Amino acid sequence: MPHKSYKIAVIPGDGIGPEVTNVAFEILSKVARKHNVTYIERVFPFGGEHYLRTGEVLSNESIDELRKYDVIYLGAIGSPKVKPGILEKGILLNIRFTLDQYINLRPVKLYPGVETPIKGKGSAEIDFVVVRENSGGLYSGVGGIMMKGTKDEIAINSKVYNYKQVERCVRYAFEVARNRPRKLLALVGKTNVLTYVFDLWERVFNELGEKEFPDVRREYYHVDAAAMHMIKNPEKFDVMVTTNMFGDILTDIGAVIQGGMGMASSGNINPEKNTPSMFEPVHGSAPDIAGQNKANPLAAVMTIKMMLEFLGENSAAKDIDKSLMKVSPMNLERMSTRDVAKALIENI
Ligand code: NAD
Ligand code: IPM
Ligand code: MN
Repeated sequence: MPHKSYKIAVIPGDGIGPEVTNVAFEILSKVARKHNVTYIERVFPFGGEHYLRTGEVLSNESIDELRKYDVIYLGAIGSPKVKPGILEKGILLNIRFTLDQYINLRPVKLYPGVETPIKGKGSAEIDFVVVRENSGGLYSGVGGIMMKGTKDEIAINSKVYNYKQVERCVRYAFEVARNRPRKLLALVGKTNVLTYVFDLWERVFNELGEKEFPDVRREYYHVDAAAMHMIKNPEKFDVMVTTNMFGDILTDIGAVIQGGMGMASSGNINPEKNTPSMFEPVHGSAPDIAGQNKANPLAAVMTIKMMLEFLGENSAAKDIDKSLMKVSPMNLERMSTRDVAKALIENI
């Protein structure tokens, strides 16, 4: 049965973004041909160069254009030539918020044969999923500065959550946990200090768990202890649900324990599919290695795999996974971006 052709908006972005996005789409094109998946892609120029040339970070018209696509694929955003925050908030967070991609799904999975810096642990111990709240918290933009430049200066960034935001995120996390064999969900918070915000999170977590997910076991960790356990006993975790900022920090630790920044993928998801979801590696534009054919493109390719799973193209996703399994144990540090791409393609 012929299916429709997917429409993919591609934002390669800055630094290593275009290098790894190229590899990702070479793999997609090969796998798509093999599995009869058809798609059209359009590349958008948003990022540092585009901003410096045209003055546009990301206009409302451009966001409306992105709405017409089934999914968005983003390489990385952020340029040393642009003040921090302009591109990150103006492009990345703008898309996440405007398109209400309220879940940031970040698997932490060590591929077999890949080296982890955690002594004595392997792929059996490092296999969990972080559900990062992606619409609020410290990222809400609520705050401001008073009397800037004086000794009376006040600077505020508030951690803001409402009931609905917490509920929809926690419900999604319970569903992820229900669909995994261990059915174990950990709330990660800071109930001992941030007593307002995490009172809300903990109540929603326990209420929902009791009423709708009695089959899912519940645990709670303070965020500092969770960071420690991710390194000392990563096997404790199956699914973790946490706030936007804690999730950001913990998933960089997650990236390192699964083999490095070049090994971590993520999806910014609108579960209701009212708007396009956006898939991107966890890493940034890595200006220190940009343009040197050094970036590890596996995170970008894993991100394609996530995108295909989201679209329901499971056999194509599995094929990418097989190729990743073959290539990830190779000595990637010694390989160029292009060599890794070649090895991936040869294994499809
Ligand atoms: P980064 O992830 O870009 O780099 C951190 C370190 O990891 C660097 O040493 C880099 O060389 C290394 N690294 C990252 N990806 C790699 C890969 N694929 N292969 C090999 N090594 C890799 O984080 P940063 O340095 O904090 O930020 C750089 C810029 O990227 C900033 O402007 C930041 O705001 C932005 N950023 C964007 C995203 C995104 O677009 N999703 C995510 C994080 C950071
Ligand atoms: C990430 C990044 C972004 C975040 C930045 C670049 C806005 O660090 O995707 O993890 O903080 O979410
Ligand atoms: Mn981050």
